Amino acid sequence: DGYRLWLRYTAPASGVAFTPSNIVTGCDDPSPTIRKSLDELDIAFESLTGSKLPRGEAPGQGALVLASAACNDGFAQTDRPDVSGLGQDGYTISTLATGDGDAVLIAGQSDAGLMYGVFDLLMRTSRGEDVRGLSVEEAPSVDLRLLNHWDNLDRHVERGYAGQSIWNWHLLPDFLDRRYEDYARANASIGINGVSLTNVNADATVLTPPYLEKVAALADVFRPYGIKVYLTARFSAPMELDGLPTADPVNEDVQEWWQAKADEIYARIPDFGGFLVKANSEGQPGPQDYGRSHAEGANMLADALEPHGGVVMWRAFVYSAEEPEDRVKQAYTEFKPLDGAFRDNVIVQVKNGPLDFQPREPFHPLFGAMEDTPLALELQVTKEYLGFSTHLAYLGTLWEEVLSADTYVYGQGSTVAKVVDGALTGEPLTAIAGVSNIGSDRNWTGSHFDQANWYAFGRLAWNPEASAERIARDWAALTFSTGPEARDVIVDMMMASREAVVNYMTPLGLTHLMGTGHHYGPAPWVDDLGRADWTPYYYHRATKDAIGFDRTQTGSNAIAQYAEPLRENWSDIATTPDELLLWFHRVPWDHEMKSGRTLWEALVDHYDRGVSQVGELKVHWQSLEGAIDRERLREVSAYLDIQAKEARWWRDASLAYWMSVNGLDLPAGTEPPA
Ligand code: GCU
Repeated sequence: DGYRLWLRYTAPASGVAFTPSNIVTGCDDPSPTIRKSLDELDIAFESLTGSKLPRGEAPGQGALVLASAACNDGFAQTDRPDVSGLGQDGYTISTLATGDGDAVLIAGQSDAGLMYGVFDLLMRTSRGEDVRGLSVEEAPSVDLRLLNHWDNLDRHVERGYAGQSIWNWHLLPDFLDRRYEDYARANASIGINGVSLTNVNADATVLTPPYLEKVAALADVFRPYGIKVYLTARFSAPMELDGLPTADPVNEDVQEWWQAKADEIYARIPDFGGFLVKANSEGQPGPQDYGRSHAEGANMLADALEPHGGVVMWRAFVYSAEEPEDRVKQAYTEFKPLDGAFRDNVIVQVKNGPLDFQPREPFHPLFGAMEDTPLALELQVTKEYLGFSTHLAYLGTLWEEVLSADTYVYGQGSTVAKVVDGALTGEPLTAIAGVSNIGSDRNWTGSHFDQANWYAFGRLAWNPEASAERIARDWAALTFSTGPEARDVIVDMMMASREAVVNYMTPLGLTHLMGTGHHYGPAPWVDDLGRADWTPYYYHRATKDAIGFDRTQTGSNAIAQYAEPLRENWSDIATTPDELLLWFHRVPWDHEMKSGRTLWEALVDHYDRGVSQVGELKVHWQSLEGAIDRERLREVSAYLDIQAKEARWWRDASLAYWMSVNGLDLPAGTEPPA
């Protein structure tokens, strides 16, 4: 039914390769985190083998030994594992030689690290791996690995396609839904260590005492799993909650208000993570309402949190309808001059691309451009612009494309991953955030395959250089427990899926063609919204002669925000990759592409390819009959039928519209739009 996500703990097709004889810990009174790890081992082995593992007294042949700095003294001096040097969340899985033979050791310096090691061992076991003789050394490359829920207090989830918010504010703090714990387990299993609970379009109410009590109850559930809570802070909260005449960040009463608020929060939640802030963007209040900069606003909140060790994640998703500058340039224009002006506990959070979570965009030019400011990468796990939870689109490949993109700022190989994990910048504070796709649906994410995006987000936040394909393989094995052949079919489907969506929605660098507001179906014909920056026509600019947005020196010059050689390569149609062509250039319909076809022919071909790729997804999925439980087989099939219908809708509607503009015929043999 999907509720158990990738934590199904179903015996792998090849069987459980190794069942430890018992579990031994290095302390009598383990911490809550280690107790949760032991609970997880119980849940897993009971499901995998039919019985829990017994507890043992001392490490011996075939035992599973758990050790951390705080849970090590119980071992005899000679057996005591070395747990130093593993860092905040790191762990090892290795062989421990005991007088009585070899045991499997999971060691973390911290208890959280140990817990991550336990999950790793359980995942490997579930996938059929033999964990004896392993020599695993793991540590996350990024410190803060956060989910951002865009959940409102009335349980409506902004851009949520999986039911209501899982936070039942009405029943909190007294009733704790079992889901909260299962949610924490799932997050911990993929290394997520923070969650911002509320929408970036924030409601100040969450900062009032009754709500903070509810937040504290959630924080208590999450703490043993190494997960901190964060909240979105509405900039005008001092006015709305306590009647202050202003929210100006240089006003002392305002500063004191936030300091008192921070004290109040930390009195209830001593490990509170901090604030996530959307300010002066899409109508949200912010420091610019008072003529102050983003840095002045962020720093005021940072000062309030600093004594408690909290951070401010200040979002760079800013653009304004009144601003004539190309929307995709505005964040850079505004934030680049503020480089170095932020306090040490501020992280500027930047979306992967300069527009807004499109099926494909170039990477955001702020990556690499801010040398003295830590930048968090914000990804969108929920598929606002990729067919909601209805269309199958594995985002691992999209994120891998962004993370491996070369900014060239520090020379060749200056990938976004290396900017974000601090390898190039030396920033001590690193973060990746994912806009959650989780809701109250039984399967959590609205569709079975969207679970993979939650999973992949966690894995890439832990290791931004991990392979999307490897992650897909792990996920498929854990989620469907099939043999390798069926697993490979699923992986192939996932790996092809996002490009299929690009092909039938926004090929060749087109963007923002979705219906305004809902962002689901096609609406390239919308040209008169009164707000250019929300109008599809503004982005494609198709006329009888040409299509595309000139962002070179002859156009908006957004290209100038990138380093060389990108600037030069992307300035020239001949050296611009096809997939970004119409993002950077305005191109005549009869332009000859690298393939020798005209732009128009190539465009038509992409739409057709998208439609046929979805057809292939259906065929592949059907071939799994018998290999997958009937319930999930049927549900995914039905979704793929919808996707096939809607891929066709995108193709037909888009082609019909382009033809009405360019007056061209379809290439011979092409089926006309319905
Ligand atoms: C998109 C999305 C909004 C959201 C915004 C943001 O524009 O459509 O719903 O509030 O991003 O990231 O703040």
